[in-house]
Amino acid sequence: MTVHFIGAGPGAPDLLTLRGRDIIASCPVCLYAGSLVPEAILGHCPKDAKIVNTAAMSLDDIIAEIKAAHDAGQDVARLHSGDLSVWSAMGEQLRRLKALNIPVSVTPGVPSFAAAAAALGAELTLPGLAQSVVLTRTPGRASSMPEGETLTNFAATGATLAIHLSVQNIDKVVADLTPAYGADCPVAVVYRASWPDQQIVRATLSDIAAKLGEGITRTALILVGPALAGEGFDESCLYAVDYDRRYRPQSAESPWASWSHGDD
Ligand SMILES: C[S@@+](CC[C@H](N)C(=O)[O-])C[C@H]1O[C@@H](n2cnc3c(N)ncnc32)[C@H](O)[C@@H]1O
Repeated sequence: MTVHFIGAGPGAPDLLTLRGRDIIASCPVCLYAGSLVPEAILGHCPKDAKIVNTAAMSLDDIIAEIKAAHDAGQDVARLHSGDLSVWSAMGEQLRRLKALNIPVSVTPGVPSFAAAAAALGAELTLPGLAQSVVLTRTPGRASSMPEGETLTNFAATGATLAIHLSVQNIDKVVADLTPAYGADCPVAVVYRASWPDQQIVRATLSDIAAKLGEGITRTALILVGPALAGEGFDESCLYAVDYDRRYRPQSAESPWASWSHGDD
């Protein structure tokens, strides 16, 4: 018996990996985080599967449900939105399951920041503008931030920021970021990326709060940084005609001239 943690993706049912789909189809028990996992994904469960929405359950209750399946020798598909590596609460479940000697597997999913970037048609790392993406959040009722992980500290790097769980704090986000990025820095807010009711608001730090108004209060990603402009960046060396590289040596003297795939 194994508990299979599966990243269910950002919302669109077809943004689930084939591996995730096949594991769901093989498990007689499915636990899903109902607040963000789309119901359509549950259609991959076997007809007679036990399907449990964990949105209103405590950690103790979730582990008890898994333990009952374990005692009955039944595999469990455990679905969380997006990818499991960020804000999935997988860590605390893994710790409990390890203590119970219950085997687990982890299947990644499409994270919401990637779905939001896709909705914008944006590359978040543009040469000369930004070469790092910071996945972060602001403090919430249930989660404080470790000292040092502040928006002002991240803003000092100039990187592209993908700010989760924070659209309700937009005024504070703007206040913290404006000194480093400037009031005209581009911002995009993507609400429910990949869902049928997806919305995109493009603005600058100076007017994003006004443009959002009261309309978008949750399940949105704030992307901030010069790269969001999508212009004013350098071309990468990768495809430059005169760039000497493994797949395109420029001369017989190139260190790559004698390279072949078999040497890699
Ligand atoms: C509990 S976190 C889950 C993050 C998830 N594990 C991931 O990989 O993106 C929920 C936050 O992720 C962001 N989020 C999740 N799904 C989203 C979507 N479809 N569109 C925009 N933001 C989303 C929002 O910031 C939301 O408040």
